[in-house]
Amino acid sequence: MDDANKLQIELPDGSLIPRLGMGTWYLGEGRRPQDVEIEALRAGLDAGIQLIDTAEMYGEGEAERLVGRAIAGYRRENLYLVSKVYPHNAGRAHLRESLEASLDRLGTDHLDMYLLHWRGPVLLAETVACMQDAVSEGLIRRWGVSNFNLTDMRELLALDGGANCCVDQVLYHLGSRGIEVDLMPWLAERHIPVMAYCPLAQAGNLRHGLVDSAAVQKVAQEHGFTPMQVLLAFVLHQPSVIAIPRSGSREHTLGNAAVPQSSLTDEEFEELSRAFPAPNHPVSLDME
Ligand SMILES: NC(=O)c1ccc[n+]([C@@H]2O[C@H](COP(=O)([O-])OP(=O)(O)OC[C@H]3O[C@@H](n4cnc5c(N)ncnc54)[C@H](OP(=O)(O)O)[C@@H]3O)[C@@H](O)[C@H]2O)c1
Repeated sequence: MDDANKLQIELPDGSLIPRLGMGTWYLGEGRRPQDVEIEALRAGLDAGIQLIDTAEMYGEGEAERLVGRAIAGYRRENLYLVSKVYPHNAGRAHLRESLEASLDRLGTDHLDMYLLHWRGPVLLAETVACMQDAVSEGLIRRWGVSNFNLTDMRELLALDGGANCCVDQVLYHLGSRGIEVDLMPWLAERHIPVMAYCPLAQAGNLRHGLVDSAAVQKVAQEHGFTPMQVLLAFVLHQPSVIAIPRSGSREHTLGNAAVPQSSLTDEEFEELSRAFPAPNHPVSLDME
């Protein structure tokens, strides 16, 4: 894999998307002082991470507000902003209003990517039509979905305009590899990247024994990574995956930013893969 491919990949619409971003769930909710979280996001931007993933749901707008403060003063063309609409807002009645509120909180006039957060009560065809309208109006550059399994994706791509979906954001980490069985190869055939959420298994908390495992510890020691960097490197080792780890800490964000510069060897990847194998049959989508 050459350096350029390590840092960005091509979307179905031909544009490029950075492979590493910053998540924002729980940011702006007082877990740390706002200045500290803003400093963490800015450290990431200064280190070259352009993509920020947020949602109207996170802190009911507080995460988007925090991002808006963090990106103030940065050139818009150097940012890749992703936000998500609540399923119950993803139709004619509310999508436009939700989108405008997100843009307002972020202090921008467009999103680079807008995602349906998960499937809900609105017909998919209606959501697709609203997304396409938002693209036509220049409010979003492109759109995608989140928490869609293979059945959902098949249904989506069969709809008029559905093939314009640019990404499926789903849970994916070393300790949860079910998507490798069916969803990931199906998406890869169609050049639709996976945007991996919880790539660090929420600091290891989503899979008991992951961070402390002999395999993760060994690769960390040999590679000169922390265990969290190993988890991130594992996800980024898959060529069609974008990862959006979240941190409110400057030091951790800088640690994450350093990962694409130093990939795992294939042997290291295999070692981790053997310790935490993907299932050998389709499983339901893991969610958080
Ligand atoms: N579409 C969806 O339904 C959905 C669902 C969940 C998440 N997401 C998105 O995906 C993002 C990532 O998922 P997540 O936030 O749930 O979990 P995550 O990124 O897997 O893990 C976040 C945790 O890891 C810690 N951390 C980050 N970098 C670290 C490092 N280098 N060393 C040590 N600890 C580190 C963070 O703590 P510190 O703050 O102390 O660094 C935090 O506790 C979210 O923020 C959100 O944007 C989307």
